[in-house]
Amino acid sequence: MIASDVRLGEGVLIHQPDLVNLYGCEVGSGTRIGPFVEIQSDVRVGANCKISSHSFLCSGVFIEDFVFIGHGVMFINDAYPSAVNPDGTLQSGNDWVCLSTRIRRNASIGSNATILGGISIGEYALIGAGAVVTQDVPDYAIVAGVPAKILGDRRAKQAIRKSAAQTATTSAIS
Ligand SMILES: CC(C)(COP(=O)(O)OP(=O)(O)OC[C@H]1O[C@@H](n2cnc3c(N)ncnc32)[C@H](O)[C@@H]1OP(=O)(O)O)[C@@H](O)C(=O)NCCC(=O)NCCS
Repeated sequence: MIASDVRLGEGVLIHQPDLVNLYGCEVGSGTRIGPFVEIQSDVRVGANCKISSHSFLCSGVFIEDFVFIGHGVMFINDAYPSAVNPDGTLQSGNDWVCLSTRIRRNASIGSNATILGGISIGEYALIGAGAVVTQDVPDYAIVAGVPAKILGDRRAKQAIRKSAAQTATTSAIS
């Protein structure tokens, strides 16, 4: 379902529109969205992002441009969730604090990661599969584990991969 209040930019690709749940959100141009994705009210997804299947983007999440979200990524917006108030009445939107989370441009979040509320993930950061992110992640950091810890720097990793690829090409030629 794509609710009538959803604002989609130009060229947004939703592979199976009948298998997503989007309401009250905004999706930037060129972004691709896989099946079984839910995007709640007030979420903003930037341009040219990829949101893979089964991911849940709750209210309070703000995703900048060029962000990759893997499969089954879970965002959290309520640190102390409860179904009911102390007097037993069902909680409504005014009875809890919605935490805000920002994913900065070009960041990538691995499959099955959980991103706690109130977190900022830096530009080009890379979150490992299955990580539980409990703190802000600096730009370019590679983090993984539960709770997520810094494993390395994405620029260093890319430099190593580039040099390995060049070595392979040189040996193939010689
Ligand atoms: C986190 C990640 C980027 C690390 O890659 P890397 O820098 O090449 O790291 P390595 O594979 O060299 O592993 C380094 C160490 O981290 C550990 N590690 C790697 N990925 C991990 C993860 N997701 N969670 C926990 N530990 C992890 C390794 O076991 C290794 O530990 P060791 O030094 O004790 O042996 C990568 O493993 C990952 O999870 N990528 C996300 C993939 C993904 O979800 N893609 C989505 C679409 S398919």
